[in-house]
Amino acid sequence: MQNSIRTNALVLAALLAGSFALESAARADEAWKNLPPGPIRDRIELMEKVGDDAKAINDALKAGTPADAAAPADDIVALIPKFDALFPEGSTSPDSRAKKNIWAAWDEFEAFSTYLTDAAAEVAIAARDGGDVKAASRKMFKSCKSCHKKFRLPKDDE
Ligand code: HEC
Repeated sequence: MQNSIRTNALVLAALLAGSFALESAARADEAWKNLPPGPIRDRIELMEKVGDDAKAINDALKAGTPADAAAPADDIVALIPKFDALFPEGSTSPDSRAKKNIWAAWDEFEAFSTYLTDAAAEVAIAARDGGDVKAASRKMFKSCKSCHKKFRLPKDDE
């Protein structure tokens, strides 16, 4: 009896520790939500939507329903042109992962974003015309990665 009470207490403590760890991980990922209103907050919020759209495109491919990639690809086409306008010179913050080199290499940064808009448009066309959505989205995902590699800081825990 005593033992099982102790075991239960230990299990409960372990469960609580686990859920606290999860909670703090979620909090670290959402640190941007504490940012004051302004371009830094807006651009991270916009990119989070792009992330959701990218996931929806991936899910459509995995589910074998590539036509479903059209709507999220359209969304990326609409969102990305607004992204560049949310980088006033020198707008960095401890809660932002934007690298300082963005402003020194502005033309290249814009070129990456234009490339993504065009690549997302190609995903939407392929999805509507029964084209090769997989190939088009592979090209699109490469552009996410290239821009992040050059212009986004790694996560603290990466
Ligand atoms: C033109 C460059 C560029 C392109 C292209 C780009 N990103 Fe980003 N992305 C950034 C930058 C810079 C940040 C960090 C912004 C900040 O923290 O202020 C970011 C942040 C994010 C975030 C927010 C969370 C985090 O980890 O910082 C997500 C999610 C994201 N990008 C997904 C994507 C996906 C998916 C694509 C491709 C469909 C993409 N991005 C394409 C530059 C880009």
